[in-house]
Amino acid sequence: MPPLLRVSHLTKKFGGLTAVEDFNLEIKPGELVGLIGPNGAGKTTVFNMLTGINKPTAGEIIFEGKKLNDLPPYEIAHLGIARTFQNIRLFTNLTVYENVKTACHQIADYGILDSVFRTAQFRKQETAINAAALQILKLVKLYDRKDEIARNLPYGHQRRLEIARALALRPKLLLLDEPAAGMNPQESAELSEFIDWLRKDFKLTILLIEHHMDVVMNICNRVIVLNFGKTIATGSPAEVQANPAVIEAYLGDEEASA
Ligand SMILES: Nc1ncnc2c1ncn2[C@@H]1O[C@H](COP(=O)(O)OP(=O)(O)O)[C@@H](O)[C@H]1O
Ligand SMILES: [Mg+2]
Repeated sequence: MPPLLRVSHLTKKFGGLTAVEDFNLEIKPGELVGLIGPNGAGKTTVFNMLTGINKPTAGEIIFEGKKLNDLPPYEIAHLGIARTFQNIRLFTNLTVYENVKTACHQIADYGILDSVFRTAQFRKQETAINAAALQILKLVKLYDRKDEIARNLPYGHQRRLEIARALALRPKLLLLDEPAAGMNPQESAELSEFIDWLRKDFKLTILLIEHHMDVVMNICNRVIVLNFGKTIATGSPAEVQANPAVIEAYLGDEEASA
């Protein structure tokens, strides 16, 4: 099977700082790959390059055979890459339902004139969007809270809502940036199950940045370890966990067991 995503020699410099250096990755459809490493290692910068927020200094990003390097974020989203953010991004004053609907609108295929004149095409799309948003809320088990204001949700539910918004874009590749941050062990165990279920039931391909090692070890097929922008190890969760260089750079650190 050809890879869904192929990243070669990807590098990002910010002035004199090399945030990511010669990063390589191939993900096959349906794989769940973990990206770990200490704070400042360059993990989020990899996501920012994959989603068009940061333009690579060097290297190549190929998604389904198409080069993404110079595409703007909305085009990359349309091609099928969606993400969540390390700091949750929601419309905090809108309801849960409205948050998912606004995400569904991003992929609706009617023009501005359709919406101004409320054409048949517009009304048909609106009906489809409402149904799709409700369906996604059921899937992520937020249907019962659909009319709550997003900021009033417990933290774990806000994370889940952010994932729901990403799913509304019907991605092929989902990038999750520290989805278990701030969660207690029970919440992070539930989240692991949820991510694993997403991958299997939605046939999603997932790249996961996470500090909670229990999450990474339980659900990732493969793990890549970054340190100061460089890849210091790749392998199965068990292999990287036993790798002395990884223990030295990262796992010996208390944040990894947080
Ligand atoms: N837009 C930016 N401008 C300048 N430096 C940045 C920018 N984004 C990230 N960096 C720097 O790049 C390095 C990697 O950051 P980041 O990718 O956020 O790390 P991680 O997600 O692994 O914690 C850090 O030193 C960070 O300060
Ligand atoms: Mg980060």
